[in-house]
Amino acid sequence: MRTQVAIIGSGPSGLLLGQLLTGAGIDNIILDRVGKDYILGRVRAGVLEEGTVGLIDQAGAGARLHAEGLPHTGFSLAFDGRDHRIDLRGLTGGKRVMVYGQTEVTRDLMERREASGARTIYEAANVTPHDFDTGSPFVTYEKDGGTHRIDCDFIAGCDGFHGPSRNAVPKSAIRVFEKIYPFGWLGILAEVAPVSDELIYANHPRGFALCSMRSATRSRYYIQCALDEKIEDWSDDRFWDELRRRLPAHHAEALITAPSFEKSIAPLRSFVAEPMRFGSMFLVGDAAHIVPPTGAKGLNLAASDVHYLFAGLREHYRDGSDAGIDAYSEKALARVWKAVRFSWWMTTMMHRFPDTGEFDQRIQEAELDYLTHSRAASTALAENYVGLPL
Ligand code: APR
Ligand code: PHB
Repeated sequence: MRTQVAIIGSGPSGLLLGQLLTGAGIDNIILDRVGKDYILGRVRAGVLEEGTVGLIDQAGAGARLHAEGLPHTGFSLAFDGRDHRIDLRGLTGGKRVMVYGQTEVTRDLMERREASGARTIYEAANVTPHDFDTGSPFVTYEKDGGTHRIDCDFIAGCDGFHGPSRNAVPKSAIRVFEKIYPFGWLGILAEVAPVSDELIYANHPRGFALCSMRSATRSRYYIQCALDEKIEDWSDDRFWDELRRRLPAHHAEALITAPSFEKSIAPLRSFVAEPMRFGSMFLVGDAAHIVPPTGAKGLNLAASDVHYLFAGLREHYRDGSDAGIDAYSEKALARVWKAVRFSWWMTTMMHRFPDTGEFDQRIQEAELDYLTHSRAASTALAENYVGLPL
C-alpha cells in the first residue's frame, strides 16, 4: 500500500489531521491499535477553544458541535466559601469557549471520515514506524494473520502518550521533561442537570473540586484524591458527600445527585518531548505532551499541533516549500510550553499538596485573592483559558 501521509492513531489528533488533509486532496491512511467502539468509549474533557472549534469546522465536522455545544462566556473560581466569576468574554474582548465532550468531537470526525471515503485501519497490531530518518519512511502492522506495509512520504505520530511513534526515536535524539503531581482526580458522569450553568473550579481545604457538564442534563464532576485511592472505596454517596463539602454552601444545597454511570481515577502529570519532528516523522498531541486537566488544554493543544502540521504539509504538497514543516517543531513547542505553564499554574493554585506548609497555604490564598480582585491578573487567566493565538 502507498499513501502520502500515514497517520498512527485515530484519536482527536489523528482524525482532525486526517480530515484536514483529505479536504486538501492529500491522501492519508489512519491506523489504530483498537476498534471504533473502544475509541468512542473513552471519556475525556470537554472545553474547546475558539481556534479548536475553527479547525473542527475546517475539517467539516462542526455541525453538531454548533447545534449541541454549550458556549461559555465565564466560569467560577470558588474558595473561602464564595464564588468569584471570571468573565471570559469581558476580559478577552468577546472570546468564549465551547463545552462539548471530546468523545463527541471524535465521533463527529469519524463520521466525517467515513463519509469522505478516506481509509482507516482499526485493530492493527504491532504498528511500527520505519526509516523516518530517510525520505522514504514506511509503517508496518499486523492484521488478519499477515504483516502489511504502507509506504509514505511522512508519518504523523498521533498515537497518544503510550504509542509507538515517540518510542521508536533513539533516546539520544529526544529530550523529555516531566512532572508528576502527588494526587489524582476522581471523576464521575451522571444524568443530572449541572449544579450551575458555568463551570466551577473550587479550591477547598479538603482538596480541589470541579463541576463541569456535557449537556443541560448530563454533569461531569471531579474531586482531587490521593494517588492510592481505590475506585471501589468510592460509592456514589461518598462521592456526592465529598463534592458537597468542597463547594460553597449555595452550590452544595443546589446539587442534584443521581447514580453515576462512569467513575474513574486519573493521575495528573505534565510531560513534554522535544523536538516534535524526527526527519519525516512528526509527533502530534498526547504523543508529544501531556498536561494536567486543570487548564482544559489537552485537546486544544492537540488541535494547535494539527494546525501547524497541516499548514506545513499543505505548503509542501501545494507550493513545494518545506518552510512550514521545517518550522513545525519550534512553532508547536512554543505554544505547548505556554499551555504547560498555564496548566501547571492552575493545578498548583487550585490543589492541596500533601506537603503544603502554612506558608505555602497563605501564598495560595493571597494568589487567589489577587487573581479575583485585579483586572490585570484576571485578564491573564482569561486569555490563557480561552486560548492563546495560534
Ligand atoms: N498502534 C496504533 N494506534 C495506537 C497505538 C499503537 N500501538 N497506541 C495507541 N494508539 C492509538 C490509541 O488507540 C488512540 O486511539 O492512538 C490514539 C491516540 O489518541 P489519544 O490518546 O486520544 O491522543 P490524541 O489524539 O493526541 O488526543 C489528545 O486526548 O488524552 C486526551 O487530553 C488529551 O484531549 C487530549 C487528546
Ligand atoms: C470536563 O468537563 O471533563 C473538564 C472541564 C474542564 C476541565 C477539565 C475537565 O478543566
